[in-house]
Amino acid sequence: MLNQKTCLGIESTAHSFGIGIMDSDGKCLANATDMYRPREGWGIHPMEASEHHKKVCDDVLQKALADAGVSMRDIDIIAFSQGPGLPPCLHAGLNFAGKLAEKNKKPLVGVNHCIAHIEIGRLTTGLDDPVTLYVSGANTQVLAFVSGRYRCFGETQDIGIGNALDKFGRGVGLEFPAGPKIEKMAGKGRYIELPYVVKGMDLSFSGIVTEALKKYTMHQSRGNSDSLKQSNKAFLSDLCFSLQETLFAMLTEVTERAMAHTGKNQALLTGGVAANSRLQEMLDIMCRERDAKFRVVDRAYSGDNGAMIAWTGMLAFDSGIKTKKEILPRQRTDGVEVRWI
Ligand code: ATP
Ligand code: FE2
Repeated sequence: MLNQKTCLGIESTAHSFGIGIMDSDGKCLANATDMYRPREGWGIHPMEASEHHKKVCDDVLQKALADAGVSMRDIDIIAFSQGPGLPPCLHAGLNFAGKLAEKNKKPLVGVNHCIAHIEIGRLTTGLDDPVTLYVSGANTQVLAFVSGRYRCFGETQDIGIGNALDKFGRGVGLEFPAGPKIEKMAGKGRYIELPYVVKGMDLSFSGIVTEALKKYTMHQSRGNSDSLKQSNKAFLSDLCFSLQETLFAMLTEVTERAMAHTGKNQALLTGGVAANSRLQEMLDIMCRERDAKFRVVDRAYSGDNGAMIAWTGMLAFDSGIKTKKEILPRQRTDGVEVRWI
């Protein structure tokens, strides 16, 4: 049982600057976010994202405190996302958290971003020991708790699944973020063969996107007639459908193998790409066939957010974990000792 406390958590690994406030009963008192939006047609620029975080941090703090109806005096612990992430963004978060902790004389706890995704998922879905599929812009990992740590059973060898979808979208003229647009277009498609790249338990997406873009370019017929435009659009739908079927089948395969290997009978889906209903459906079918439970983390907590950092910071602090005031941009999930389970 946790002692009654309140933790304020700061998330700043990439484009989101978030502050969440959680109490030790697992109640979320506030979850405020402000997101940096890259210039049109561009990806994240780390320095610009970090400047954004420095600009909005005070306002996000005031909003979180007001939403929770508390002042800094009511906060017992301050947690920050220590890694993995973009160094300038992590620095912005640590500097803000450090100053806040010093000024208000509160303890400071560093939190691993990927573990925070799992912990808020466990809290909000009630799954106690899942295999987690964490799929976001930059991350694709299959994680499970074994022998004192969250171990990574499979991950991308190149780009994250969300970035793969966005890269394909950029190549075919769909706006960022392309994931939701691809999902919409995929509804009416038929299957076009694409490479399927699972290597052991790891995945690779870049080559599949390149092949899909090559197929798109080769199919494009020039001309302005309505029938040509329609044929081009139908082909793009087919490609969106095929890309989703291929990529999500790969994710489902690796998740299932991790469940079989660890003997776990729960699967948790989180990260921004968790919003995709076809991915949810595939995992749901796989879990039903194995007689396993499947849950998707609610949207408010599946993207990057401060509440997950606050909750995990509370667990870590309570288990006696001490943190150095440093960022760990390449921190591995299994590099963190998990004493609270
Ligand atoms: P992280 O830093 O943890 O990698 P992120 O900020 O890059 O996170 P999220 O905000 O978790 O990523 O997710 C954004 C990604 O999710 C984008 O790549 C976007 O295209 C994708 N996405 C959002 N909705 C959907 C959807 N319905 N289907 C597929 N992909 C989606
Ligand atoms: Fe994330």
